[in-house]
Amino acid sequence: MDIIVSSACIISVHGNAKSIPQTRMDKAVLTLGSEEYELPLTVGSEREVGIDIRALRKESKAVTLDPGYGNTGSCESAVTYIDGENGALRYRGYSIEELAQKSSFVEVCYLLIYGELPTSAELDVMKHNLTHHSMLHEDMKKFFEGYPPSAHPMSVLSAMVSSLAAYYPDSEDPADLDLNIIRLIAKLKTIAAFSYKKSIGHPYVYPRNDLDYSEDFLQMMFAVPAEEYNVPTLLARTLDMLLILHADHEQNCSTSTVRMVGSSGADLFASISAGISALSGPLHGKANQEVISMLARIQADGGNYKKYLDKAKDKNDPFRLMGFGHRVYKNFDPRARVIKKTADQVLNDLGINDPLLAVAKHLETAALEDEYFVQRRLYPNVDFYSGILYRAMGIPTDMFTVMFAMGRMPGWIAQWVEMRNDPHNRIHRPRQIYTGATERAYVPMSERD
Ligand code: CMC
Repeated sequence: MDIIVSSACIISVHGNAKSIPQTRMDKAVLTLGSEEYELPLTVGSEREVGIDIRALRKESKAVTLDPGYGNTGSCESAVTYIDGENGALRYRGYSIEELAQKSSFVEVCYLLIYGELPTSAELDVMKHNLTHHSMLHEDMKKFFEGYPPSAHPMSVLSAMVSSLAAYYPDSEDPADLDLNIIRLIAKLKTIAAFSYKKSIGHPYVYPRNDLDYSEDFLQMMFAVPAEEYNVPTLLARTLDMLLILHADHEQNCSTSTVRMVGSSGADLFASISAGISALSGPLHGKANQEVISMLARIQADGGNYKKYLDKAKDKNDPFRLMGFGHRVYKNFDPRARVIKKTADQVLNDLGINDPLLAVAKHLETAALEDEYFVQRRLYPNVDFYSGILYRAMGIPTDMFTVMFAMGRMPGWIAQWVEMRNDPHNRIHRPRQIYTGATERAYVPMSERD
């Protein structure tokens, strides 16, 4: 099959293997001083073009400089596709809108990690494995005791995931890795819920094998011993959908961290623990928590939207509109659209009137009419409305980023496995352009005073 990339370039695609015939646009040419370097192109299945600079430094001694990696492709990946201009997000080819509506989180875990939607038998096995590996080793409960009640659940989560390596060591046997993947997803919800119970001084509620993933998490969070707790179906379905929407997002900060750490040969748990730490930053996963603080602040300030838009525009003010803007989406974030619509429905069904939802909507309208945000193509991202839904479900604010981590787990795992199986994978080791002092002689202390 021939695919026309542009009028000057024809790319042949045969199944998954891509071959690029020698045509006029089969390479990029870089002129550096008086030298010309020919750089091959790599074209993806969605026709994205990458200039392959692997040989550049060896041949020219020059490196590329791209702080924040906004123009750098770090790998070839078959997991997730984003078209930021058109607001498209697909896991293994399936649109996020369709998955959110028709699929389940466990099914999406399977899809991301193993590459295809499961058959009913495969899904049953996955569900069975995820329920039967959800208990923590009893010794691990002692770890929770060591944290102060004020500990942020993200630091507890990261440390506990890292500790799993002590119980389930890395091994060369693929069957062991498969089991560790299941253990990680299964135990994450237990760790998350235990960290919440510990923070409020309540006894831990153990996982139950008769419930699905989201239901079980909700009962471990909200059940109280000696009292009956029936998981509300609406909450379980809403949580499942939120987890699906967060399940992967190609090479974002935390996923790149997982790949970076894993590229050294570090085990799955160490790599993912590092990803959790990366997610805890306010410009990444913690933005969902920050959005709620911001909306509450605006509400307490009498809904003075202009004041906060002005602050966000002021380059001397560190304030940013949290939940707004994205490195890749330049029109809309498809996840935010689904969440906004769901927030309206769920709050209505639950009979909740959250004043922060109204503040969020007013703020969004005001920002989208403001020249600054329009020019920079800044739109609400996934974090803008997700906190409203978590609040409606009774999830405390400092658990919001933990919810993000639970959702992102299959994506991190899929990307880590892909990296490990990639024959081209090398330890991640970027270069730099050094701007410090040039060589100089050591100055003895007597001459420094
Ligand atoms: N409020 C005010 N100005 C902003 C914002 C914002 N939220 N986001 C970007 N800008 C401005 C920025 O100051 C810059 O202006 P100028 O061109 O005049 O210097 C311009 O827009 C481009 O922004 P950038 O910082 O170069 O964009 P980036 O791709 O490096 O950063 C971002 C992306 C998401 C970190 C940023 O938009 C941001 O800080 N947003 C708020 C935090 C947030 O919501 N994060 C969650 C992201 S989505 C979930 C996830 O993946 O974690």
